[in-house]
Amino acid sequence: MSGTILALENVTVRFGGLAAVEAVSFHVEPQTVHGLIGPNGAGKTTAFNLISGLGHQSDGHIRFDGERIDDWPSWRRAQRGLGRTFQNIRMFGEMTALENVLAGMHAHVGGGLGAALLRLQSFRAAERAAILKAREILAFVGLADPSARAGNLPYGDQRRLEIARALASDPKLMLLDEPAAGMNPSETSGLIELLLRLKARGVTLLLVEHDMHFIMHLCDRITVLNFGRKIAEGTPLEVRSDPKVIEAYLGTKVAERLEAGARVR
Ligand SMILES: Nc1ncnc2c1ncn2[C@@H]1O[C@H](COP(=O)(O)OP(=O)(O)OP(=O)(O)O)[C@@H](O)[C@H]1O
Ligand SMILES: [Mg+2]
Repeated sequence: MSGTILALENVTVRFGGLAAVEAVSFHVEPQTVHGLIGPNGAGKTTAFNLISGLGHQSDGHIRFDGERIDDWPSWRRAQRGLGRTFQNIRMFGEMTALENVLAGMHAHVGGGLGAALLRLQSFRAAERAAILKAREILAFVGLADPSARAGNLPYGDQRRLEIARALASDPKLMLLDEPAAGMNPSETSGLIELLLRLKARGVTLLLVEHDMHFIMHLCDRITVLNFGRKIAEGTPLEVRSDPKVIEAYLGTKVAERLEAGARVR
């Protein structure tokens, strides 16, 4: 399957009687930004959990980078290049920015703690290299002070730190769940600029976001879910003028934006 880094094939996730995701198929092409959108409860986070190995499908298959990953634990998916950030920020608030990034890198330092203690010299060299790399990543995402306490950072910077931590494991594909949520307009445009630099660096992005300006600006392709089902797919232009998409969002602010976008066209 060349030309595809991630493919969901007929995936269903049930919670008791409820199908949070139902017979969904879509694929993501390498080095693109792919949007996954839909109203609240559409199944976006459930799909992300599934892809990153925090939940399992009741039916269907997932392929990542040419391999079936259905039975892989989340750590193995991460090790093979699947990174993610969370809808609700998850970080170590008491630790510094640098320590948070190092925590995201642990799998890559010196072959485990036991081996590290036996080979203290090589562990120290690996640790120095890890710190250097973590500092580079923090600079890349635009965080100037590696020793800042994560919990004290402004909200927008905490979101950047989450991205930095995900970058620590060298992801080929990064899943971002509502990265712009709660950001002010200037933080949001800073984030757009950062994600475009990530794409230029060769990282494929799969993005869940309710901010339609953000989505339409960044995405090459968009898949739309509603009540767990895929209802539309295409370029931003195609998706925002699709009557099924406008109907799904009916009565929400997003609908006004979509219709405005469709009129501009
Ligand atoms: N662990 C769970 N157990 C039971 N139901 C769940 C569970 N997780 C999610 N759901 C249900 O599955 C559906 C999809 O939820 P999900 O969180 O994936 O939606 P979402 O598209 O991410 O929504 P939002 O935009 O609000 O974040 C919802 O009806 C939700 O209540
Ligand atoms: Mg969600």
